[in-house]
Amino acid sequence: MARILITSAIPYINGIKHLGNLVGSQLPADLYARYMRARGHEVMFICATDEHGTPAELAAAKAGQPVADYCAAMWQVQSDLAKGFRLSFDHFGRSSSQRNHRLTQHFAGKLAENGLIEEVSEKQVFSVADNRFLPDRYIEGTCPNCGYDRARGDQCENCTKQLDPTDLINPRSAISGSTDLEIRETKHLYLKQRSLRGKIEAWIDSKTDWPILTTSIAKKWLNDGDGLQDRGITRDLHWGVPVKKGDQPWPGMEGKVFYVWFDAPIEYIAATAEWADAHGKDDAAWQRWWRTDKGAEDVRYVQFMGKDNVPFHTLSFPATIMGSGEPWKLVDYIKSFNYLNYDGGQFSTSQGRGVFMDQALSLLPADYWRWWLLSHAPESSDSEFTWENFQVSVNKDLADVLGNFVSRITKFCRAKFGEVVPEGGAPDDQARALITDLENRTRAYEGFMEAMEIRKAATELRGIWAAGNEYLQSAAPWTVHKTDPEAAAAITRLSLNLIRFYAVLSEPFIPDAAANMLAGMNTTDQKWPGDVAEALTALPPGHAFTVPEVLFAKISDDDRDDWASRFSGIRT
Ligand code: MF3
Ligand code: ZN
Repeated sequence: MARILITSAIPYINGIKHLGNLVGSQLPADLYARYMRARGHEVMFICATDEHGTPAELAAAKAGQPVADYCAAMWQVQSDLAKGFRLSFDHFGRSSSQRNHRLTQHFAGKLAENGLIEEVSEKQVFSVADNRFLPDRYIEGTCPNCGYDRARGDQCENCTKQLDPTDLINPRSAISGSTDLEIRETKHLYLKQRSLRGKIEAWIDSKTDWPILTTSIAKKWLNDGDGLQDRGITRDLHWGVPVKKGDQPWPGMEGKVFYVWFDAPIEYIAATAEWADAHGKDDAAWQRWWRTDKGAEDVRYVQFMGKDNVPFHTLSFPATIMGSGEPWKLVDYIKSFNYLNYDGGQFSTSQGRGVFMDQALSLLPADYWRWWLLSHAPESSDSEFTWENFQVSVNKDLADVLGNFVSRITKFCRAKFGEVVPEGGAPDDQARALITDLENRTRAYEGFMEAMEIRKAATELRGIWAAGNEYLQSAAPWTVHKTDPEAAAAITRLSLNLIRFYAVLSEPFIPDAAANMLAGMNTTDQKWPGDVAEALTALPPGHAFTVPEVLFAKISDDDRDDWASRFSGIRT
């Protein structure tokens, strides 16, 4: 038995996430966590909300709420949606927690002790009307290059030219529109990442088993991006982790907070501490996951994230950890994802384009979405959600293959033998061929799940369902029963056992359907099939069951068209 620490990139607090966000980190992380638990490993699966930064402050202001209240409310919304999608976090934390405050300040203190922090004075735009410094992207004005009048201080959206706020003509605050802007001097802390470059490069080079998407992004930033420039880790904001050196004040940094990207990944650790607190456990309970001097040396740590997050997890967060000089656990494997597009364009939070988590659950239960999203995970390239493709997947894989198998055999059995597993007969050649096929397919499925090859795992699982369906179709117990009831009993017994077997294998993808299948089969036996032949005798003759409710309803063409048009535009 191994110990596996799993984290999903922590979603921003400001708003409900869309299906593209979901499939880019939380959902595949959940698949892996469920699989590893099913294999008997000890799993710690952590996620949280990412609550700091200007976007959170502005979203709260827009909602007319104090930012702390806004975050508390949105955490609840996100937590409920995570439950709705059956995301099986051991803890869903908050980056605004006291644990994260203390740990973030602790790391900053260690980095300072190790000579890795530099204080830098710089000039920044201050908005008198808003009473705050403005981050570059919150300064708007006319682009000196193309004349677009809503260019942002970091870049012109129209001509894509990279800008400095001082380049803008007629600059104004994007928050209030005020033009009463001043340049003021302010001091910030910089993390001297450049001096850690050699160490980080050697560490990345040692990760020869990482997916190409992860390593290529990491190396690109390491070599020709500006990923390892010294990095400002503080901001002039009100909401965030106050700048302190451990538990001591940091002279000259009063009223400032750490940059959201500095404290957010530290929340992975803090959320595990929050988990311990929530369960009345001591520090040793979470430190055995995170401190290699306290039991974490044999933990395997896997992170899940979208490709835009890779630089922060391959360079910045490791720089924080390595720079601390303390024995914190570094990530062992990073599974990253491309983007999911929506019907010929991009999902967009700012434009409200696509299907958001709350909307999805109002249409159909979680398993429908889980199956489609995971079986189309954007692994080797971007992938695209279309309503037609969604309808085909649900109707074919879930309703015609899996659902139909379950309903057909349980109803047949009820009619001919009653709601108990029938006795008599023995497996024939066809049954033995099926078992051999399933043995091979199950081992292949395990290989893909272990390797986090999500699409391939889904394809194999679909093949496992289809093999049973084809067997039932060709063994045709309804015909055989007329002349040889014993042989029909053997086919039926094997098929009923397949339902339990399918429930166990499918649980990571479709946990609710799996639970319904097990409940129908009147068993709690979720033992992972070591030997498939043996697993297919778990329900013995005489074992009572009930015909389950319809597992999956088909999506009609009317529903499909209705949803396609309802979600074609902008979320209102
Ligand atoms: N909130 C970020 C995003 O949604 C992810 C933060 S991940 C962590 O892209 F590393 F900061 F934890
Ligand atoms: Zn421009």
